Amino acid sequence: LVQLSNKYLILPGMVDLHVHFRDWGLSHKETLEGGARAALAGGVVAVGDMPNTSPHIRTAELYRKRVEQGSGLPILYRLHMGVPEEVAELDRARPRSVKIYPEDVASFGWQHVERLAERCASLGCFLIFHCEDPSYFKNSERPPEAEVACVERVRQIAHRTGVRVHLTHITLPYTAEATRGWASVDVTPHHLLLDMDNCKDPALCLVNPRLRTPEIRRGLLAALASGLIDMYATDHAPHTLEEKRSGNPPPGICSLDIALSLLLSLWKRGIVSLDDVVRLYSFRPSRLLGVDIDTARGSFAVVKLEEFEIRGGNFAGSCKFTPFEKFKAFGMVEATAVRGKIYFKNGEVYSLQLAL
Ligand code: DOR
Ligand code: ZN
Ligand code: ZN
Repeated sequence: LVQLSNKYLILPGMVDLHVHFRDWGLSHKETLEGGARAALAGGVVAVGDMPNTSPHIRTAELYRKRVEQGSGLPILYRLHMGVPEEVAELDRARPRSVKIYPEDVASFGWQHVERLAERCASLGCFLIFHCEDPSYFKNSERPPEAEVACVERVRQIAHRTGVRVHLTHITLPYTAEATRGWASVDVTPHHLLLDMDNCKDPALCLVNPRLRTPEIRRGLLAALASGLIDMYATDHAPHTLEEKRSGNPPPGICSLDIALSLLLSLWKRGIVSLDDVVRLYSFRPSRLLGVDIDTARGSFAVVKLEEFEIRGGNFAGSCKFTPFEKFKAFGMVEATAVRGKIYFKNGEVYSLQLAL
């Protein structure tokens, strides 16, 4: 699976199950093509894109349109469908997965989520939760208790309906423990490495779920080290710098270009093994999304084993700033190939043409 010389590492292509490629009404933040560039620069060959586009993808028609557009990318594209107003829309769209936001729970209620869960269970789709119970939100506060309460709700729904569930971007070691045996979970690079104390730029560090205390963050790292976390995903959520610097900055951090390097830094620190890296950011998410990224089929990343300083200005996507600016990372992505073709080499993304 992994070949190691003293200078280079060859890994199977990475798979990021949680990205926001925007486009459509939000193409000023990012486009499908820009997102794919960031992915390729980061050694990522397959993604699961999120449905909170403009418009939000809640119908079979929009779902099909987006999947068709995504299939023109050089990377492998999957899409999590948004919550439909009518459960029967799932029969028409037949998505592999449905993404549930706290905003969906706030507007449609937990009962609607349970009806979706029943339908998904019989159709064989799974639910992917941004797990924060909105009844715990006060003003702009979104406390950890919102995650705890959501986990309990989702546990009940999973047990009653038998639906397969995945909780994305969990922030608490509690959640990793409490979901054992009935849900899979992923963590983001920012919830593992940034917290309320060490992240200095309030706008660039603003994200949902919020960054937590240093204690909680260290607990999450310990959960990762002890094998309680199934997957690693960026929640790559681009906004423009102008939006981030406005009086009302939107939440979101983009990290697709550097996520593999940040994970390899945890390997360098002895927190995870190289097998963990491949399991967390390639093997498990590829199974969840249903993509085949076998190295034998020519989808791989080449990494140079040296330390480097992160610079948002070097990012290949539209988003060129990061709260990780000047962080020391280990393992620079040198090349990325998808299905036998090299699309990224020496800092350049090649022949990226959207077949729309
Ligand atoms: O920080 C976030 N940004 N959290 C989300 O759930 C949505 C995302 C976005 O789309 O910008
Ligand atoms: Zn989310
Ligand atoms: Zn997201």
